[in-house]
Amino acid sequence: MALLPYLILCLIPYTLASQRRLHPRDDAAFSPPYYPAPNGGWLSDWADAYEKAQRVVGNMTLAEKVNLTTGTGEFMGPCAGQTGSALRFGIPNLCLHDSPLGIRNSDHNTAFPAGVTAGATFDKDLMYQRGVGLGEEARGKGVNVLLGPVVGPMFRKPRGGRGWEGFGADPSLQAIGGAQTIKGMQSTGAIACIKHFIGNEQEMHRETTVLGPGYSSNIDDRTLHELYLWPFAEGVRAGTGAVMMAYNDVNRSACSQNSMLINGVLKDELGFQGFVVTDWLAQMGGVSSALAGLDMAMPGDGLIPLLGDSYWGSQLSRAILNGTVPMERLNDMSQVTRIVATWYQMGQDQDYPLPNFSSNTLDEIEPLYPGALLSPTGVVNQYVNVEGDHNITAHAIARDAITLLKNDDNTLPLSKNASLYVFGTDAGPNSNGLNSCSDQGCDNGVLTMGWGSGTSRLPYLVTPQEAIANITPSAAFYITDTFPSDLTPNASSTAIVFINADSGENYITVEDNPGDRTTADLFAWHSGDELVQAAAQAFSSVVVIIHTVGPLILENWIDLDPVKAVLIAHLPGQEAGYSLTDVLYGDSSPSGHLPYTIPYNETNYPASVGLLDQPFGQIQDDFTEALYIDYRHFLHANVTPRYPFGYGLSYTGFSFSNPVLTPLTPINTTFPPPRAPKGPTPVYPSTIPDPGEVAWPASLTRIWRYLYPYLDDPSSITPSSNASTSEYPYPAGYTLTPHPPPRSGGGAGGNPSLYDVAFTLSIDITNTGSFSGRAVVQLYVSLPESIGVDVPGLQLRDFGKTGVLDPGDVETVVLNVTRKDLSVWDVEVQDWRTVMAAEGVGLWVAGEGG
Ligand code: NOJ
Repeated sequence: MALLPYLILCLIPYTLASQRRLHPRDDAAFSPPYYPAPNGGWLSDWADAYEKAQRVVGNMTLAEKVNLTTGTGEFMGPCAGQTGSALRFGIPNLCLHDSPLGIRNSDHNTAFPAGVTAGATFDKDLMYQRGVGLGEEARGKGVNVLLGPVVGPMFRKPRGGRGWEGFGADPSLQAIGGAQTIKGMQSTGAIACIKHFIGNEQEMHRETTVLGPGYSSNIDDRTLHELYLWPFAEGVRAGTGAVMMAYNDVNRSACSQNSMLINGVLKDELGFQGFVVTDWLAQMGGVSSALAGLDMAMPGDGLIPLLGDSYWGSQLSRAILNGTVPMERLNDMSQVTRIVATWYQMGQDQDYPLPNFSSNTLDEIEPLYPGALLSPTGVVNQYVNVEGDHNITAHAIARDAITLLKNDDNTLPLSKNASLYVFGTDAGPNSNGLNSCSDQGCDNGVLTMGWGSGTSRLPYLVTPQEAIANITPSAAFYITDTFPSDLTPNASSTAIVFINADSGENYITVEDNPGDRTTADLFAWHSGDELVQAAAQAFSSVVVIIHTVGPLILENWIDLDPVKAVLIAHLPGQEAGYSLTDVLYGDSSPSGHLPYTIPYNETNYPASVGLLDQPFGQIQDDFTEALYIDYRHFLHANVTPRYPFGYGLSYTGFSFSNPVLTPLTPINTTFPPPRAPKGPTPVYPSTIPDPGEVAWPASLTRIWRYLYPYLDDPSSITPSSNASTSEYPYPAGYTLTPHPPPRSGGGAGGNPSLYDVAFTLSIDITNTGSFSGRAVVQLYVSLPESIGVDVPGLQLRDFGKTGVLDPGDVETVVLNVTRKDLSVWDVEVQDWRTVMAAEGVGLWVAGEGG
């Protein structure tokens, strides 16, 4: 990495912590218990919403409360999932729906560039604008909770299927991308749902099924805090209304009922005030998940969907009436108050639209509950156009993410009159038609996104082929992955070769890849490498355009002399064509940077980040590489990558000068100052409600297999004297005595002092070249040995991007370094520790190139 050291202060002696003791949390083998579930409502930012929620929840019947915690069943409404309602209080069935890049399986919506593309822009404002667009479209379609952003997976496994839904292989890039998205989305009133909490780094074997448990991600406490939790902490700090738990186990406890993760880490340590929802069908048990802090079960069904069974719903009503689940838990569930408070917090009590679309069909009139065998029909699609002018943001992101890896002889930009030959199906349309593959589960035509639930339909698509043809009408197109045998280009012709690499979610297998890139390896699909090699034999100038979900091995052709230029266009969404030609022809200089490292060879990665596959028994995925993923690993192992994280060239040049470091909040303690005590939380009577509250209403027309909160003979259920029954034994370690508030907590995202800005660094950026362009500044920190533990050599902590600078223009970019940015997680003290006065800390700035 071409890095400029800006500040290295002198080291001070430091006595290493005495004997290292294993804290229960630092045991990556078993997740320790953490009970009871902390109530929400103690943070001032949420106080009004909780006050309103308390008034409402205090007057709800048991049926209304249970309704809000449980989905009505798979395919029992228009959205991926919907809760029951509490209509007496104006609370409708809440619609929870995908995706992180657009409204899934809908119409007249924008297909934004994927998260990894937004990450590659290194542009905070575009990340925010994308969030606003997503939120506006969610609101316009009546989606209450939009299931994004994704900040886990984090590309720990380069072959993992869903890294592309997030922003990149670094906790700060994920954190900033996620937080900007949440702020943007929620500015519209839509509730963001950050996901998947946590350790969901591969697709295969993620789910517990009748065949066996999902894999266990075994993560030590320090790695959890410094890598995988980091973006979730920023998401909570940004005010996310919901968090989705991952399918897998963490340290052998299923995430959806992992009391340490939900009660301990999310609700106590990070001070999360919103609600916690399962991933779809990831609930493992009723009493256990309620006690462990889960607030909402989606889509509501039990182990086998569509049978009308639920772990909650009527079973939760029963568990409350017989005293197995304490009333306090349901009231707060932290469930109900948390859900209602979140609804108020985003202002959804003020004219928030009801769903006007169905993700089950594009027809106008269809069954309202397609999961039921017999269902009334009605208008399910009103075809509301929610696109607004979001194409502008989508285009800007797709363009400003484009990452130039190589540009020998200034081959790019191209002249509009150049003699061009274009190769590869990735330049053209899906030969079976736009959106012909459900959830984009195929690799046919230009790759605009990966596959699975993290997708949306494309409202339109201008392909690269069309965009190039519009600018260079004489260009010749060979939209095939086989190089033509009869081609005789003249010496001055340029070949543009399009190749791609796809991946997605596990429930769809594409070309033998079950979500993760198993058979594709880390190579281009459809013999893309051979296509480039063949072009390089026939042409003296080859430009390679890559659409990819993540890292790709380029070694089969990158050093061939005719391969002059290489662009990664990531996953551009609907704006694939003109965003690319803007850069190809020089209307815009490339300004994207790699959100992950590209190695020479897959063996350059640590062995522990390979995919795991085993037929029987639970897979134990030990995160033994600990903090050393992606560039942290390459630096640590002293392995030179082909292109490092953060790399990206420009058509112009930039100089960085005049760094000014301004200390703001002094660091005069190694641990943050003590947190404030928790504020009050709503209190309700804990008496068991009248069983009549969950009796079937006489007027109800029942839908078969719909999940209701009602019971046949509720008055026959009497509270047991011993709540922890042998039928539903309480988990080991269950207690009603709350934990002392964790010292690392105290605010949204942890102790507020962690986020005090210790320094700002301002830096002047001058365009020294002859093109207009945008520059990115990346700020990395290095921590001194005196911190007492092994730390990655460099860690990205902030970044900034200039506007378009004309030649000679100067812009000052200001970057922040917080106390947390300079801290390590002390597993014994259970708090963030730094060095006094930041002594020995290094700040490093990387810019053009990487
Ligand atoms: C499962 C996926 O893992 C999750 O990301 C998605 O939101 C749900 N299905 C709902 O579609």
